[in-house]
Amino acid sequence: AATAAALSIAAQAAQADPMGCDAGETVVKFSHVTNTDKHPKGIAAELLKTRVNEEMDGTMCMEVFPNSTLYTDEQVIEAMLRGDVQMAAPSLSLFESITKAYRLFDLPFLFDDIAAVDAFQASEEGLAMLDKMQRRGVQGLGFWHNGMKQMSANTPLLEPGDAEGLKFRVQPSDVLVAQMEALGASPQPMAFAEVYGALQTGVVDGQENTWSNIYGQKFFEVQDGITETNHGVLDYMVVASVDFLDSLDPAVRDQLVTITEEVTAERNAAVTQVDAEARQAILDAGGEIRELSDEQRAAWVETMKPVWAQFEDEVGADMIEAAQSAGQ
Ligand code: LMR
Repeated sequence: AATAAALSIAAQAAQADPMGCDAGETVVKFSHVTNTDKHPKGIAAELLKTRVNEEMDGTMCMEVFPNSTLYTDEQVIEAMLRGDVQMAAPSLSLFESITKAYRLFDLPFLFDDIAAVDAFQASEEGLAMLDKMQRRGVQGLGFWHNGMKQMSANTPLLEPGDAEGLKFRVQPSDVLVAQMEALGASPQPMAFAEVYGALQTGVVDGQENTWSNIYGQKFFEVQDGITETNHGVLDYMVVASVDFLDSLDPAVRDQLVTITEEVTAERNAAVTQVDAEARQAILDAGGEIRELSDEQRAAWVETMKPVWAQFEDEVGADMIEAAQSAGQ
């Protein structure tokens, strides 16, 4: 009878929560849009879940919904403010409707590499950005790295002129729109989950993204090749709602924040390797990667960098300066 009772309780718990959270635990739903394997965000979110569920067992229970299964990152902040999810880590380009401050990160050729991005984010100006959305009910808990963006299309891209007249999917960011316009291309903002289909059917000709996203979404399968431009950065802010954080017992909140900070440091330190593995996985799967000569790269810089001037008033010349000098 005891066994039957235990089974029935287990069955009820399973029914109440398919992810296996116990009664009394605060459920934290974390929604994101990427895959979990060979992906900086996917790996970081899984590690966060594992640590929270082990170290906060009985108090808190985290469930991660990857691959846009719950929300797109265009929808997730609203969902978080409604309390439908508690955490997310959208790309910095996805916060436009809340703040224009993160437009800085989308400026083409502002950062040489992810180490420069890391140095800027760790600076006083960078850390202050975590609190920029508090008034709108969103608290930044850390920056999660993905990597530098590359360009791809259904035709080889070696000179900036090769992009002219092509349609490129971009994240919904005015800077990225301006960047594609500077190339004479037509920018098409679109949710991440729709990009593979749009490339496959020719709704768009090309896209820009990191090695892990190009690998994870298999964009290389439906593109002529990937050009190693390293022209911009795609990074994330891991966020929670102010209301949710305020609702927690202070000790519980501190533990969640501390675990998040530790996961952030651990996974950011490993990101270059994850990035390189995804790049190699594209080659192993038969994808074509094109490297630019110094002259070719200089031509891309010359064509895209004028975009800075369009946004200088908004993001602040001082911030551009701080970003450029970080890590040097
Ligand atoms: C994109 O839409 O390309 C990215 O924001 C996806 C992601 O989360 O890396």
